[in-house]
Amino acid sequence: MDFCNVRFLLSAHTNQQLPPPVYPEIAFAGRSNVGKSSLINRLVGRANLVKTSAKPGKTQSLNYFQVDDGCCLVDLPGYGFARVSRQIRQSWQGLISGYIETRPTLACVVVIIDLRHELKQLDRELIDWLRYLGKPLLPVYTKADKLSRNQQEKNAAALDAGLSLTSGERLLFSAQTGQGVDGLRQRLTAFVQAGRGVVQTAGLPATDPI
Ligand code: GTP
Ligand code: MG
Repeated sequence: MDFCNVRFLLSAHTNQQLPPPVYPEIAFAGRSNVGKSSLINRLVGRANLVKTSAKPGKTQSLNYFQVDDGCCLVDLPGYGFARVSRQIRQSWQGLISGYIETRPTLACVVVIIDLRHELKQLDRELIDWLRYLGKPLLPVYTKADKLSRNQQEKNAAALDAGLSLTSGERLLFSAQTGQGVDGLRQRLTAFVQAGRGVVQTAGLPATDPI
């Protein structure tokens, strides 16, 4: 799949504004300011397809991008940002959790975690919840460029242990240097292919019981 053949589709502020569930969707989740939008820009090879910001809370809606004829990328609002009102926080959470729980075309949730820091409770909770729901997920440890190779491995091993992951189940990444981008494209292509099977099966007419 050519991730560089991409265009902005729409921004959804409510579940009613989501596009019809036609293409497998890859959603990008993570704490506010962790680098979700930057990761998408690097994935699609564009500096500014998605707006990024040094201030947390930039992405406040579900932003859809259409790739080829193949899939949609969905940039989710970040969680864990304290400086927005409780009401806004709750409505974001409702939007995101409703989307993840009910979206039939959701092929993978990429959970983006800052490689520099210790595991945060919210990240753990998100991954546990996705596992509980049985949703396909791909943890990506980002901002690797801020650490030496040695420190990258050490921190990644600590996050792996906290999340009960093997090193083959996650990726190290840097939006700055492009580290890990080829691996990310390969893994996401596989998720889309698996998701396409599910979408087609879901679309088949029900057979009569014998
Ligand atoms: P919200 O939409 O506010 O939740 O943020 P986000 O998760 O989309 O983060 P965004 O991509 O806007 O990046 C936040 C800040 O981190 C920006 O200043 C980016 O330049 C920086 N950043 C993101 N990824 C990387 C990375 O891999 N390396 C480095 N050094 N900086 C990064
Ligand atoms: Mg963002």
